[in-house]
Amino acid sequence: MTDLEEIQRRRTFAIISHPDAGKTTLTEKLLLYGGAIHLAGSVKARKTARYAVSDWMEIEKQRGISVTSSVLQFDYGGCRVNILDTPGHADFSEDTYRTLMAVDSAVMVIDVAKGVEAQTKKLFKVCSDRGIPIFTFVNKIDHFGKNPFDLMADIEDVLGIRSCPMNWPIGLNGNYTGIYDRETETAHLFTRDTAHGAKKLDVVSGSLSDPAIISRLDPEVLAGLKDDLALLDEAGDPFDAEKAAHGQLTPMFFGSAMTNFGVQPFLEKFLQLAPPPQGRTVLEGQVLPEDPSFSAFVFKIQANMDPKHHDRVAFMRICSGIFEKGISVLHRQTGRMMRLSQPQQFLATERTVVEKAYPGDIIGVFDTGELGVGDTVCKKKFPVTCVHFPVGPNRMFARLSPMSSMKRKQFLRGVGQLAQEGAIQVYTLPYVMESFIVGAVGQLQFEVLKYRLENEYGVDVRMEPLPYTAARWARGNPSPDSITGTDNAMIVYDRKEHPVYLLPNEWQADWLAKRNPAVSFLLSPPQETGVSDQ
Ligand code: G4P
Repeated sequence: MTDLEEIQRRRTFAIISHPDAGKTTLTEKLLLYGGAIHLAGSVKARKTARYAVSDWMEIEKQRGISVTSSVLQFDYGGCRVNILDTPGHADFSEDTYRTLMAVDSAVMVIDVAKGVEAQTKKLFKVCSDRGIPIFTFVNKIDHFGKNPFDLMADIEDVLGIRSCPMNWPIGLNGNYTGIYDRETETAHLFTRDTAHGAKKLDVVSGSLSDPAIISRLDPEVLAGLKDDLALLDEAGDPFDAEKAAHGQLTPMFFGSAMTNFGVQPFLEKFLQLAPPPQGRTVLEGQVLPEDPSFSAFVFKIQANMDPKHHDRVAFMRICSGIFEKGISVLHRQTGRMMRLSQPQQFLATERTVVEKAYPGDIIGVFDTGELGVGDTVCKKKFPVTCVHFPVGPNRMFARLSPMSSMKRKQFLRGVGQLAQEGAIQVYTLPYVMESFIVGAVGQLQFEVLKYRLENEYGVDVRMEPLPYTAARWARGNPSPDSITGTDNAMIVYDRKEHPVYLLPNEWQADWLAKRNPAVSFLLSPPQETGVSDQ
């Protein structure tokens, strides 16, 4: 296979959803079809153990939520599939936003009974801002659900995007018995679930004139289906590959991840329609997958993936060129050369060393603390610098200090490493060495920070909540003495030692801006590439 063919067969995507819509279940099923896991009855196993292959942190297993994002790779139907798992919990949305920087498309899972939910809406916005093609999987049709036309309207009203159903649920009043594939004009009927989704459903397939299908369908259901299909053909949007590729139309699929119903056809159609690796806009212009020189950017750092080894892994998305084990690259942010000698690919806790990888692939590189999220590595003669790496607004703040001053060293190391991972934002106070101010999107992030400091660094910490919910940076970083109206603000310093104003609420943050009309206040630190020669 030529290098170009290798690139073209890559599909790198993320699955996004509101918690409980079925993202983990769908991921598992895709892995099963891809032969990446062989857990017969994995659903049942999860039921008792609450274990998903992409969860490796103890806290995730305990809580049954997916906290960290992982990368899963398998081959299917000639494609090399890279699934970037994302945390479902809203408190970890920042991690998800960064992961979405590394994909070429996204699958949005929606619960048929609930439609578009809050977290789906937020994640969708990130994808649509970047023009990422979005594929919709309406899950749980083995259960009672909403009317599919209402779901289409929901997607259009809430997300502002047109949808094109590739298949259509068969049933009346939210009780579904199968799906109709609009392209092949075939109905697939499942038998009613009596095992609460614990086993794969038996399926009967055929055209709408096939006696085997007609005999299984209530005449009212069959008539309703025909009406729906006629309406869709007449009034619905036709499938438009160009619009789908630009995120202006979402191909919509119905199915049930838990019972495997509709999952395989979805995977096959998705791989056919989803885009291969796309170019990236960088400071220097555009970097294209077919550019011969190697470049990659770090979108995630994970410390202590294997607690026995205390290692730190930087996950990189390859943008251009071919990666070969041991390659020497330029780290743009420090200007230093580094050798990527032990690159890994991951399937939960299993690791394999990568000999060769192509644009679209994700590799994990052991790092000694040099790399940060948003950093780029490239060949010396082909400088590539990432721009627009998102930093989510912190909404909660707390003072963090070690219980015992004897553990100060471990405390500093732990907080430093977890901050570099992007797990939390850390601010300092002038003349205070023993404690930090930490900022997060939500409470769970604080709990994970506390847990990880205790379990990975052996430090018990005290965390005192602070009464602030908004943070502002002043453009140009004028001295805080020149800013008026800061009586209710706490002034802390970010890692670049720029002053940050923490305020009790958005109203007071706006008021601060009004009191200082000559200063422009920002919701996040000004974008910096960290490259000294720009
Ligand atoms: P998430 O990652 O999006 O948070 O969702 P997850 O896959 O964990 O699924 C949430 C719940 O929905 C789980 O039930 C899961 O079994 C169930 N589920 C997923 N897909 C389907 C489906 O197609 N049909 C039906 N009926 N249920 C589905 P749970 O009771 O919370 O957990 P468990 O005890 O089943 O593991």
